[in-house]
Amino acid sequence: MVFTMATVTPTSQISCFSASNDTLLSSSPFKSLKLPLFWPWQKVKVGPLSVSPMGFGTWAWGNQLLWGYQEGMDSELQQTFNLAVENGINLFDTADSYGTGRLNGQSEKLLGKFIREFQGEEKVRDNIVIATKFAAYPWRLTPGQLVNACKSSLERMQIEQIGIGQLHWSTANYAPPQELALWDGLVAMYEKGLVQAVGVSNYGPKQLLKVHDYLKARGVPLCSAQVQFSLLSIGEDQMEIKNICDSLGIRLISYSPLGLGMLTGKYTPSNLPRGPRGLLFSQIIPGLEPLLNSLREIAQRRQKTVPQVAINWCICKGTIPIPGVKSVKQAQENLGALGWRLTSDELLQLEDSARKSPGKMIQNIFQTR
Ligand SMILES: NC(=O)c1ccc[n+]([C@@H]2O[C@H](COP(=O)([O-])OP(=O)(O)OC[C@H]3O[C@@H](n4cnc5c(N)ncnc54)[C@H](OP(=O)(O)O)[C@@H]3O)[C@@H](O)[C@H]2O)c1
Repeated sequence: MVFTMATVTPTSQISCFSASNDTLLSSSPFKSLKLPLFWPWQKVKVGPLSVSPMGFGTWAWGNQLLWGYQEGMDSELQQTFNLAVENGINLFDTADSYGTGRLNGQSEKLLGKFIREFQGEEKVRDNIVIATKFAAYPWRLTPGQLVNACKSSLERMQIEQIGIGQLHWSTANYAPPQELALWDGLVAMYEKGLVQAVGVSNYGPKQLLKVHDYLKARGVPLCSAQVQFSLLSIGEDQMEIKNICDSLGIRLISYSPLGLGMLTGKYTPSNLPRGPRGLLFSQIIPGLEPLLNSLREIAQRRQKTVPQVAINWCICKGTIPIPGVKSVKQAQENLGALGWRLTSDELLQLEDSARKSPGKMIQNIFQTR
């Protein structure tokens, strides 16, 4: 199935924009930024849900080890969240495993707090879709244990229902018997109305077909498949997964669309982030020159920025990217990935440059075939 943008045009919202089309009037419910942005009513369907063509990822919100999170960042993260929601973003990705050490669950907790304290229109707040992921921990061996994990996430966020409940990874590679219990857990949380829709993450083409068929037989539609998908991560598997998603009506959510930050163009061999990312980037970035050059060239020609082009590529491939954001500035910039499209020639140029770049992202160890 090919997805199209669900376009509703409430005239009340159209009238919020000025005729010159380059500024927002003060009556607009979507504040703080100038056009161009996507039209806020242009939502994409994910199962029964309507979400913005891009969501934001919150892995960094609570992660000290990889992302250098500190609690002092919370107020900026709240402003980041508010800015996103005020500008029409309604999809936020999180997981019950996000947050390191004593901060475990911090990403979900922060999201819940930010939703509660959001001061904008109630209607806008009610339309926020949280996609959380339940880790396939070895001690989650029964459907009931996965349902309890879902209830714990609801409690951390203090919300009544989760938008998309996703299985974080498949255990097919190392504990196949656990897999069925986890799938039954997804069915149970859906039937209990704890989640509006279910999805999976890090599933390869074969496992994706299996889980889709299993859930379908139980009367549960699989609405999304989240995988690493970016100009740094476009192997045969990604394309096969995309084709399967299209044929089965599953929405592909692309995680790490900025290659953990490498596709922003801000890191170089002499300017690496601290911690484990620095080590990883030092091995990949030297092999990214053709791709980064193309990204820069297109960005300059289109008067966009490098991250905007990298995210727009994911959108043009028919996926929903969920770039991670740590600051208002990054959210503001990434919002500029919406409201325009790369041409087919530009897409080809980028993909050609990606192929010519020896640097590639390592795949998630939990990714199955
Ligand atoms: N299902 C899974 O297994 C899985 C795995 C990974 C991620 N995810 C999800 O996908 C989301 C996104 O992936 P990701 O966070 O791994 O990587 P990403 O989106 O590729 O990169 C995000 C990082 O890039 C930097 N950045 C973002 N926008 C920027 C901008 N405009 N200018 C400069 N720097 C910018 C920020 O880090 P710095 O400022 O520190 O560089 C940010 O944290 C996650 O938050 C998570 O929700 C899921």
